[in-house]
Amino acid sequence: MAFAFLLAATMVNVGCQPPGGGGTTGGGDKVRVGVFMSLTGDTANFGISSTNGIQMAKDEVNSAGGINGKQVELIVQDDRSDASEAATIVTKFVTQDQVHAILGEVASSRSIAAAPIAQNAKIPMLTPSSTNPEVTKKGDYIFRSCFIDPVQGAAIAQFAAKSLNAKRAALMVDRKNDYSTGLEKVITEVFTKLGGQIVVTQSYQAQDQDFNAQITSIKGANPDVVFVPGYYGDVALFAKQARDKGLTVPLVGGDGWDSAQLYAIGGAALDGSYFTNHYSPYDTDPKVVKFVNDYKQRFGSVPDALAATAYDAAHIMFDAIKRANSLDGKAIRDALAATKDFPGVTGSVTFNENRDAVKPIIMVKIEPGGKYAVQERVQVEGAAMPSSMGGGAPATGASPAAGASPAAGASPAAGASPSASPAAGASPSMNANATGGGARNTNAVP
Ligand code: PHE
Repeated sequence: MAFAFLLAATMVNVGCQPPGGGGTTGGGDKVRVGVFMSLTGDTANFGISSTNGIQMAKDEVNSAGGINGKQVELIVQDDRSDASEAATIVTKFVTQDQVHAILGEVASSRSIAAAPIAQNAKIPMLTPSSTNPEVTKKGDYIFRSCFIDPVQGAAIAQFAAKSLNAKRAALMVDRKNDYSTGLEKVITEVFTKLGGQIVVTQSYQAQDQDFNAQITSIKGANPDVVFVPGYYGDVALFAKQARDKGLTVPLVGGDGWDSAQLYAIGGAALDGSYFTNHYSPYDTDPKVVKFVNDYKQRFGSVPDALAATAYDAAHIMFDAIKRANSLDGKAIRDALAATKDFPGVTGSVTFNENRDAVKPIIMVKIEPGGKYAVQERVQVEGAAMPSSMGGGAPATGASPAAGASPAAGASPAAGASPSASPAAGASPSMNANATGGGARNTNAVP
């Protein structure tokens, strides 16, 4: 962990342009890509992992000769996990650095803050992992290469209702976070539709340290599960305090949980809880295996979903610039929109008419020691399941080679956990409609 952080920080410094530096050292013969990420602040892990993935993709492209003969130069800036700083950076990207394309952010609120600036400047922006629907509604230059929260929220609610048989659920939501409130809405809608009841909703703010009041009222409502659509640091702390106060029911959350820090902070309090995610490092698809190995070799840790989605986003952008055969914003935008079946490590990417990707979702179970077992795979309508992910093979048992779980970086020999195999073997078990607001067509399919 510490090792990966140091490496990332070093590289960021090297790749970083002084703000206001304008152009590039090599004049106009480079492809300049602005990267805005949270390298410090309360979600620093998001930005560090994502930047690692992007650096790796950049080096792969550059060592293969660049894009149509031009080397890629990354201009990496830290927004300190702050939405207004994200907007400031993207303003600099388009006015001073004159970037040709932009990659970022992870957190939806920060992508939402920055997107209008990229849109106005007509510079294509691609977020690897912001899932709130609002992001790409900012305009036709804004893309995302991941699934959206109406789909993810439906998957979370349905998993609780059907797989965990939950009837009564509590919700913990970060009211100032677009991602969290967006998921709250969908989860409530779908869980209720499936016959469940939200018996209590409590709220918190990022970086709160004391959740006792919320835990008391949640406990009093006697739920079967607690939905916690938040980010890893808050979730981990909440889990610890909940367990300490005797609230033992499973917690269920979304992709915002994914970080090695989740288990580092929460530890055993997270055992038996679940979250949806973009990819599994245990996937046996050869390109995933290669990505995981290359990443481990370079950064000394198993790539989390942030690293994987960002690696894919960078390659998708590079591929579009190549096909555009131009550094003109509109040409790159059009090429990006025409992306079809791009074979990423997080799944195949084709943008729909909203410039969102339609991809499979996995449900991860956290097991003792911080192992992430793939519990179920959620088939999203309209997206082909990668062959290595489907076929009814026991998902966890089939991929022992991947080694350490992302949560427990110190257990390289952990392999896959056997306990989730029976459930995973029955996948795919869900079907969530990607375009219908998420609430329709969420019945289980055999
Ligand atoms: N999807 C989250 C958001 O939109 C960000 C996130 C993605 C966090 C992937 C972790 C992993 O805010």
